[in-house]
Amino acid sequence: MFLGLKIAIDGPAGAGKSTVAKKLACRLGFLYIDTGAMYRAVTYEALLKGVSMEDEIALTDLARNINITLSVDPDNETRIFVDLMEVTREIREPVISRHVSLVARVSGVRRELVRLQQQMAAAGGVVMEGRDIGTVVLPDADFKFYLTASPLERAKRRARELEENGHRIDLDQLAGEIAERDKIDSTRVTDPLRPATEAEIIDCSAVDAEQVVQMIVEKVAGRIG
Ligand code: DC
Repeated sequence: MFLGLKIAIDGPAGAGKSTVAKKLACRLGFLYIDTGAMYRAVTYEALLKGVSMEDEIALTDLARNINITLSVDPDNETRIFVDLMEVTREIREPVISRHVSLVARVSGVRRELVRLQQQMAAAGGVVMEGRDIGTVVLPDADFKFYLTASPLERAKRRARELEENGHRIDLDQLAGEIAERDKIDSTRVTDPLRPATEAEIIDCSAVDAEQVVQMIVEKVAGRIG
């Protein structure tokens, strides 16, 4: 009964978007698309090829020609490939997190990735997660949610994720980096991070992912079912 729907999930880093979007896609039998992973893949490739973060023309060129493939495991974990080489782990490295906002602010890069994302979502049956999904990528989405949480809670969540991947974390430094990334993401000229006017804002500081998913499923079922 939910066939063909498009659900947009936006919000700042560490708000719990990925966990919620993945679980939601699982519950609905939808495809989960992590658009942040695509900006990370372009950043990975730029660093690998020694492209300057200031060189907008070269970064745009790279985004135009990059061959990104996303595949989803049976447990809904996204795997990402650049030119058929898997970079799933590499794109989560702190060095990528430190540079990705600089790549994501380049309008030519955004134009190329938005086009790809729109193609991926065209058939519907998707939960797409990012920063500009409700505002730019899928302005026609059937449902738009903007997930947020307090800065401390967001830093703690990111710290847990990084520690699980074997990194040692200084929480204050991480909170500073997240604040810096939020600032770049929300003040950039092209497609800044902001809730779509019709998006429902959900504060995830004090609720767990399961509760948020349940809330969203009830809303979808209430409107469509
Ligand atoms: O969600 P994430 O941390 O993997 O996102 C990585 C970066 O990419 C982050 O700085 C914001 C940017 N991004 C974006 O500008 N637009 C999107 N749709 C998704 C991510």
